[in-house]
Amino acid sequence: MKKEVLLKVENITKQFPGVKALDGITFEVHEGEVLALLGENGAGKSTLIKIIAGVQPQTSGKYYFQGTERHFKSPTDAKEAGISIVYQELANVPLLSVAENLFINEYGRGNHIISWKKMNERAAKILQEADMHIDVTKPMGECNVAEKQQIEIARALYENAKLLILDEPTSALTRSEIAHLLETINRLKERGIAVILITHKMDEIFPVADSVVVLRDGVSVAQKRIEETDENELITLMVGREIKNMYPPKEMPDTEVILRAEHLNNHFIKDISFDLKRGEVMGIYGLMGSGHQELGQTLFGTVPGTTGDIYIEGEKVDFSTPKKCVEAGLSYLPAERKSEGLVQIQTVAVNLMTAAYEGKGTRRLIDFAKEKEATWRWMKELSIKANSPDTIVETLSGGNQQKVIIAKWLEIDPKIIILNEPTRGIDVGSKTEIYKLIRSMCHDGVSVIMITSEMPELIGMADRAIILHEGVLQETLTGDEITENAIMTAAIGGLGHA
Ligand SMILES: Nc1ncnc2c1ncn2[C@@H]1O[C@H](COP(=O)(O)OP(=O)(O)OP(=O)(O)O)[C@@H](O)[C@H]1O
Ligand SMILES: [Mg+2]
Repeated sequence: MKKEVLLKVENITKQFPGVKALDGITFEVHEGEVLALLGENGAGKSTLIKIIAGVQPQTSGKYYFQGTERHFKSPTDAKEAGISIVYQELANVPLLSVAENLFINEYGRGNHIISWKKMNERAAKILQEADMHIDVTKPMGECNVAEKQQIEIARALYENAKLLILDEPTSALTRSEIAHLLETINRLKERGIAVILITHKMDEIFPVADSVVVLRDGVSVAQKRIEETDENELITLMVGREIKNMYPPKEMPDTEVILRAEHLNNHFIKDISFDLKRGEVMGIYGLMGSGHQELGQTLFGTVPGTTGDIYIEGEKVDFSTPKKCVEAGLSYLPAERKSEGLVQIQTVAVNLMTAAYEGKGTRRLIDFAKEKEATWRWMKELSIKANSPDTIVETLSGGNQQKVIIAKWLEIDPKIIILNEPTRGIDVGSKTEIYKLIRSMCHDGVSVIMITSEMPELIGMADRAIILHEGVLQETLTGDEITENAIMTAAIGGLGHA
């Protein structure tokens, strides 16, 4: 049976002041079809789906949904027609329960008398049907990212979405959570629901997508059936050149120990000791709840109740607050970049320079010319897509905002840098640039601690890897020992648990 065209986008253009974000985009999505929307940071993906979902209007062009030309005035408008969008930063009310959040639109609309019991039963049923297992009475604030996302998807389903749009849904999920989401997408497809999926992770596309649209600088450079293409071709189409080696060659790190951690203990980690050599990339890996995230935070003085010692270049340092850590030569790129925050209404230059000022203790005289020069340099180095250092951060794409934060922590010029999920939300081409940059920093004597949930990144970048299990340092792997198998075995607690 031939599937009907659900969404037809015709010659859509979007002009922002000074930036043409989309230029003549045309494509179709059929019922029950998964379309992967790919492109580098700033290519126009989010802009495109925001137009379709009624968040912002196009400058010119048309779109049709179920055969009729539409002009959605708001997301509610689009939702009523059957288009739901799940953003990466999920909007929900933390104090309300899962069930209340699920029905928030419904109860918001009229004066219902709410039967809590009925509501909870209905919520449980809806989640169950979608194969999601969440306690519906728990407050939303206690749900993790994956659960919040499941609830958003469940809500879209029960509100009768015919097209579900997911903007980088997997960037903050663990491996098993990603697998579960991909299964969910496949089930939606069976129910005839269409999905537009935006992701930077190539390996996620092939198990679910039927077709793919590649954007580059606001132009559609390719539209293919998934079976007509492969990962390499898609990467080449996205970045406009072939990427041969994702990871730069590893160098032998120095033997000189730059940092030594001894008997670190707190609520999350148990008696962890290790050392870090000059110019070394040390990876930290663990499954959810292993304490690997918290180990990074511990090293940067943000976990209360920590005992143990840290020595930098042989000297014991006070690591009780982030400020003291910065003074001791540490810098930390947090994984939770949204809450850690950029000042959205400030310029790229101001955002990029704030950490450098704060860290140096004495606020140095602000030299605007120097500041601009440094900002231009970072913009070039990390290919940050912005008109100038004076561009307001709010107008940058998600990935380009990420790059500003990375630059901000590198600008401090640290001895040791802790990178927590350094390439989250970053496109493939820029990832290789960041990897090269990390290697060249190491070459200059900087040591890197890299916390990552991306296995290929860990294997490709780490000189040594420590694997945590239930708060304990389970295994240290060096060089060629760092394989997927060895990492996973350690992460689940060793061979006895396999
Ligand atoms: N409100 C705005 N004002 C000015 N320019 C904007 C605005 N919103 C987006 N842009 C610009 O439009 C372009 C496309 O941005 P968009 O957010 O669609 O990219 P994206 O493909 O989603 O990238 P990413 O992978 O980084 O999320 C970028 O150059 C961005 O700076
Ligand atoms: Mg985006």
